[in-house]
Amino acid sequence: MKELNIMEATVCTSPNPLTLICSRNEDGSTNLAPICFVSYLSFNPPMVGFAAGKQSHTGERVRETGSVIITVPGESLAGAVVACGTSTGAAVNKVAEHHIEMQAVEGSDIQIPADTKLAMVATLEQTLETGDHILHICRVEKFLGDESRKGLYAWNGFGKVAPAVEG
Ligand SMILES: Cc1cc2nc3c(=O)[nH]c(=O)nc-3n(C[C@H](O)[C@H](O)[C@H](O)COP(=O)(O)O)c2cc1C
Repeated sequence: MKELNIMEATVCTSPNPLTLICSRNEDGSTNLAPICFVSYLSFNPPMVGFAAGKQSHTGERVRETGSVIITVPGESLAGAVVACGTSTGAAVNKVAEHHIEMQAVEGSDIQIPADTKLAMVATLEQTLETGDHILHICRVEKFLGDESRKGLYAWNGFGKVAPAVEG
């Protein structure tokens, strides 16, 4: 075996889970950001964590509002997901800029993309500084799914966004 850096390690764990984190902007619109640093943390109560860079608008909005919807995007969003990872919601409205069709979620004031395989409606419980990121530990209030849709994963580390093929 040879010694690898963390970016090379992420290539070895590909495909990596990919989420599109939906948070509420100050004007009520939704901000979208792809985040791969995500994991289930507890069955009972159901808890999920995601780590966002210290500068990320997503992290700031989730800490401000205490609410988030962690989604698994459907395959039609591959291009939009990559695009949402190249700009910050602090400067642009990504939903409008990339013409992403959205849907309302009952009981939440955050919208999510129409093509969504899984949505975890969650509240922020705790944050933890983890190096250059902040880990957001969230309690999931509700899971909403559409198992007929193909979800997206991150391949080649985080370099490519595509569905996973079994086998
Ligand atoms: C496939 C992919 C995975 C990413 N994973 C993460 C991640 O786990 N954590 C993170 O902070 N940024 C991640 N990013 C980068 C953010 O999406 C990017 O910095 C984005 O501009 C943040 O937007 P915001 O400022 O609106 O939150 C990822 C980008 C891509 C394309």
